Amino acid sequence: MIQGNDRGGYTVPTRRLYPYQWNWDSCFTALGLYHVDRDRAWLELTGLLDAQWDDGMVPHIVFRKNDPDYFPGPAMWQTGTKPPTSGHSQPPVLASVLRQLVEMGGADDLEKARSLFSKVLRYHRWFATARDPDAKGVIAIIHPWESGRDNCPDWDIGMNAISVPDNLERYARRDTAHVQSDQRPTHEQYDRYLTIVQFGREASWNHEMIYRNGPFLMADPGIQFIFLRANRDLLSLARQLDLEQHYSEIQDLIHRFSEGSAWLWNDAVGGYCARDIRTGEFSSAMTNASMLCFYGQVGTDEQNQSMTAHCRRILSLCKYGMPSWDPSHAAFESQRYWRGPVWVIMNHMIIKGLSDAGETDLAERLRADTKQLIEMHGMAEYFDPVDGTGLGGMDFSWTAAIYLHHLHAYELSVES
Ligand code: GLC
Repeated sequence: MIQGNDRGGYTVPTRRLYPYQWNWDSCFTALGLYHVDRDRAWLELTGLLDAQWDDGMVPHIVFRKNDPDYFPGPAMWQTGTKPPTSGHSQPPVLASVLRQLVEMGGADDLEKARSLFSKVLRYHRWFATARDPDAKGVIAIIHPWESGRDNCPDWDIGMNAISVPDNLERYARRDTAHVQSDQRPTHEQYDRYLTIVQFGREASWNHEMIYRNGPFLMADPGIQFIFLRANRDLLSLARQLDLEQHYSEIQDLIHRFSEGSAWLWNDAVGGYCARDIRTGEFSSAMTNASMLCFYGQVGTDEQNQSMTAHCRRILSLCKYGMPSWDPSHAAFESQRYWRGPVWVIMNHMIIKGLSDAGETDLAERLRADTKQLIEMHGMAEYFDPVDGTGLGGMDFSWTAAIYLHHLHAYELSVES
């Protein structure tokens, strides 16, 4: 199936709905591909890094050839890059995937990681400067799409504050031609997504200007914890590669973003929540991204106990975990994209974090749910946590990849 989504050197998430190369999709896909074709897995990552911007950003979509079946395509983003790309990034899982490949492999893999190391370090520097220019230790996202959790209620605060300009370019969506509209973001949301894209384009994708004046600026527990973990994994790689000159820089990043994570703790909920960077307003419920706190290795004992309690409670409310929004909250919708459904790539990282934290029973529950969902309901993009229905695009690369990885390397993946 992953091979069926291969477009010659890169893999699309699924045919038609997503006809280009996506950043974190490709990283997870490489993890699965590694078990069937190691060289092809590395090619997926080197190909992604070929699209790295001069300033270090690795973009969220790489448009290798134009496909009118997808919107918003290169003409909307106008980044002026070669190859054309979108104008922001996505969760930086790259370093963590690299570490996993190295730990599953041998000397060859270590040398391949060496050849990519400086690019990945530049990517991390870009996040640390462009997305935290005042060094607060909190990573910002400038668009909900940057979180990879496009329409999660986490972003409703920032999205509701956006006023759609009269001169918003007229557009026709393509996603609802491929997937039922009740499983996709609404039209009001789409107008706002494109307002941010238009702002970025008019600012010539100057990230300092977008951070200071853009229509949307929120902190995401997902990106925050993924970035933290990615730095821990990059440090481990640096050690394996004897790149001593980089240790202290990466250690400083780990320290800064560990400290900064405290800003995402919402006392009212007793957990980590998304937060509007300019107003300080918190989102009001737990998500699957909140549960990545274990993966990022943050929090006091007391905070961890509270997060574990949330995790147990939420899992007791649904047949399959981990839902992307708390089922006890009014905004929960079991089939609408990131407003309830289960995403197995998130499960993969949550399981890793829970295992590392010694929460074995929770990790096992999620591992069994992940396996059952895929075996019973297919290689869907995402799944209904209540009855397991496979939703969104089918024959989905990252779902197949996580399945392969968990079949072949589960022991390794939980130990690393
Ligand atoms: C959607 C998802 C995003 C993913 C992309 C391609 O936009 O929200 O996380 O990368 O599809 O699969």
